[in-house]
Amino acid sequence: MTEQFKMDAPATERRLDDMAQGLVGAPLDRPEGALKVTGTATYANEWQIEGMVHGVMVRAPGNSGRVVLSNREAVAKMPGVLSVIQDDRLLRNPAQGTANKAPVQGAQHATYLGQLIAIVVAESFEQARHAAQALKVTLENGEMVPVDPATAAVEPQEDQTLDQGNLDGAMSEAKHSVDVVYTTPSHSSSPMEPHASIASWEGEDLTLRASYQMLKYNRNELADSLRIHPDRVRIISPYVGGGFGSKLGLAPEAVAAAIAAKELGRPVSVALHRQQVYEATMRRSETRQRLRLAADSDGRLSGFGHDARVSNLPGETFAEPVLQASHFLYAGANRKMSLELARLHRLCAGSVRAPGEAVGVTVVENAMDELAHEVGIDPVELRLRNIPEKDPESVKDYSSRRFREALQSGAEIFGWAKRPGVKERRDGEWLIGYGMASAARINALMESQARVTLLPDGTARVETDMTDIGTGTYAILGQIAGDMLGLPRDKVDVILGDTNLPPAAGSGGSWGASSSGTSVYIACEAIRRQLADRLDVNEHDLMLKDARATYANQTKALTDVLQGDEIAKLGHVLPGETSDAVRQATFGAYFAEVAVHAASGETRVRRMHGSFAAGRILNAKTARSQCLGGMTFGIGMALTEELTFDPRDGHVVNHNLAEYHIPVNADVPQLTVELLEERDDWASPLQAKGIGELGICGAAAAITNAIYNATGVRVRNYPATLDKVIVGL
Ligand code: MOS
Repeated sequence: MTEQFKMDAPATERRLDDMAQGLVGAPLDRPEGALKVTGTATYANEWQIEGMVHGVMVRAPGNSGRVVLSNREAVAKMPGVLSVIQDDRLLRNPAQGTANKAPVQGAQHATYLGQLIAIVVAESFEQARHAAQALKVTLENGEMVPVDPATAAVEPQEDQTLDQGNLDGAMSEAKHSVDVVYTTPSHSSSPMEPHASIASWEGEDLTLRASYQMLKYNRNELADSLRIHPDRVRIISPYVGGGFGSKLGLAPEAVAAAIAAKELGRPVSVALHRQQVYEATMRRSETRQRLRLAADSDGRLSGFGHDARVSNLPGETFAEPVLQASHFLYAGANRKMSLELARLHRLCAGSVRAPGEAVGVTVVENAMDELAHEVGIDPVELRLRNIPEKDPESVKDYSSRRFREALQSGAEIFGWAKRPGVKERRDGEWLIGYGMASAARINALMESQARVTLLPDGTARVETDMTDIGTGTYAILGQIAGDMLGLPRDKVDVILGDTNLPPAAGSGGSWGASSSGTSVYIACEAIRRQLADRLDVNEHDLMLKDARATYANQTKALTDVLQGDEIAKLGHVLPGETSDAVRQATFGAYFAEVAVHAASGETRVRRMHGSFAAGRILNAKTARSQCLGGMTFGIGMALTEELTFDPRDGHVVNHNLAEYHIPVNADVPQLTVELLEERDDWASPLQAKGIGELGICGAAAAITNAIYNATGVRVRNYPATLDKVIVGL
C-alpha cells in the first residue's frame, strides 16, 4: 500500500507536462476561499464544544526571577474562576522540546518581560480576563540581565564561519570596494489570526483544535511538554489565518489549554490577545550586518565578505541564518563570512517568513547598489556580471537558475532603461527614484506522506496532515491529483490539517507545496499502475481525462474500470542524493519606483515589479499571490516595520497593530509579478521549487535603493522612516 520514493536522481520524465486534464499550473481558485471570505471556515478559536470554559494567559512583569503569584488564593475565589494554574510543564518555548536540543525552560522562572507564566481559567471569557488582570505576579531574586544586542555577550557560530582565499588582500587591492554596516530591526510575524487552541480530553487522549503550520512536529512538541506519548495527541488545524513562521512550532497557549483541560475535566479554550502575540510568540532577530565587496574596474567581484550579529534568549539554539544566500548568490574568489549570536533577554527569536534571506539578501542587495555607484555601472549590469558559473564555494552546479533572465526580463517589464540619475527627477514636491534588487532563497524537499483514494464513483480523496496557511495547499494538491488521475478539480476532495492523517512536511521553509505535492504524485502514480494492470496496458500508455481512461484506441469510464472497488495508495517521499549533489535555490529580481517628499522625507512606493523563477509553477494564481505577499512584506520592512524594545527591560513597546506598522492597502501600490517558466529535475518529480518566501528575499532593498536614487540619501538602519531620510535632504 505504501509507495516510497527517495529523490536520489534527477526526475527527467516531466510527466506533468503531458497530463491530459491540464490542471497543474492553471490559475485555479482556492476551493476553501469562499468559506474563508464568508466566515464559514471554522478557525481554531471558533469551535463550540459542549462544556467548554475559557483560559487567559498571564505574563511576567519582568525579565528575570522566580515567579510568585502573590494573591493567587483571592483570585481563585473570584466569580466564575475555576483554576489558577502555574505548572513547570508550561515551557517558555514548547517547540524546544523536540525542535531544539537545548535544556527546556519552564514557567516557574521568568526570562523575558511578557513571557507567559500562568493561566487563569473561568466559566466565561470575561471572568477569566478579569481574574487574569487581577492576578498579582512578582518576581523574586531577579538579576540584572542584558537586553541590548550591542552590549550583550556574543557566541560565535563556528559552523557558519567561512574563510576562503584572502578577503583582506582582495579588499586592499580592489579597484572599487564597499565596506558598509547595515542594521535591520526585529520583526513580528503579526498573523491576522492570533495563536489559539482548544484542548479536550477523553480519558488519556487529548484533542487540540489549534492553528499551526507543521502538525507532525507540533504533536510531538505537545506530547513532550506534557510528558505523554505522541499517540495520545491529536491536533486538528484545517484553517490557519496566517503564521509566517510564528506557528511553525507550538506556542504556550496550546500547552496551557491542555494542562487546564486535564485538571478541570472540561474543554478549555485559550486565545492569545494581540499584545501577547507581539510579546510572546517568535520574533525575527534584529541584525547587524557588515558587507565587504571588492571589485575590479568592471565591477567583477574578487571578494565577498558578510559578517552578521543576531540575537536570542540564553538556551535557545535558533540563530537567524543571515548568510544563507550569501554563499551562492554572487561570484568572488576571496570570501569571508561569520555569524555571531548575542545572548539577551528579549522574547524568543525564531523563524519569521524566509528566516535568513529576508534580511540577509536585503542587505547584500543594498551593498551591491552601493558598489554599482562606486563602479559607475547600471546596478542590473553589476548583478549580471557577477552571476557565478558554479556555486562559488562548493563548486557544485546549480540545479536550475533563471536568475539572468529574471534580471533582464524584470528590467524590461518595469522600464528600467528610463531610470533617472541620482536626485534627477522631481514631480512637484516629490523626488522620484528607481531601485532594484535581486531575490534568492534556498530550496529543499522534505519527507512527506499523503494517502490518495480513487473511489468507486470515479472521484478521489487526498488525505494528509499537511496544512494550508493561506498558501494554496488545498488547491494545489487537488490539481496534482486531478491531473494524475484524469479528474476535474471538483472531483477531488482534499482533506488536510489533522494528525490522524498521514504525516506531511508541513508548511515551512517554502517546501510545503513541492514536498506534500510529491507525496500525492507518488500515490497517484501507484494508482495509475493499478488501473493499467486492470486494463492490461502499460501505465504510460494510459490517458486519463474527465474520469475516463483512454488506451489502445478504446475509452472506458473510470467507474467501469473500478467495478465497485476503491484503490488507495500512500505516497511517501524522502529527500535523497539530489539535495546535496547540486545547489538548489530560487531566484528573481525586484524593481521599485518611489516618491520621497522633499519637505517631510516620507516615502511612498509608487509601483513595484518582481520577476521570479522557482521551477514549475503549480498554480499561477496562488504562486503570484505569494509573491505579492512577499513584496508587501518588503514594503513594510523597508519603510515601517520595527519591533521597538524598551532599552531598560527589553519589553516590546509597540505591541499592537496600531503601533507596529505593517503596510495597509494605502501603502501598497500596483504590484506586478512575472513567473518565469522553469523545470527543475533535481528538485522533485514535480520539477517545482518553493516559491512561498521568495518574494520577500531582498524586496526591501529595491525600495531603499530607490530612495537613494531619488534623494542621494543612504539609510543604513532599517526601516527608512521619514526622520532618517529627512536628515540627508
Ligand atoms: Mo516559514 S518562516 O518557515 O513559516
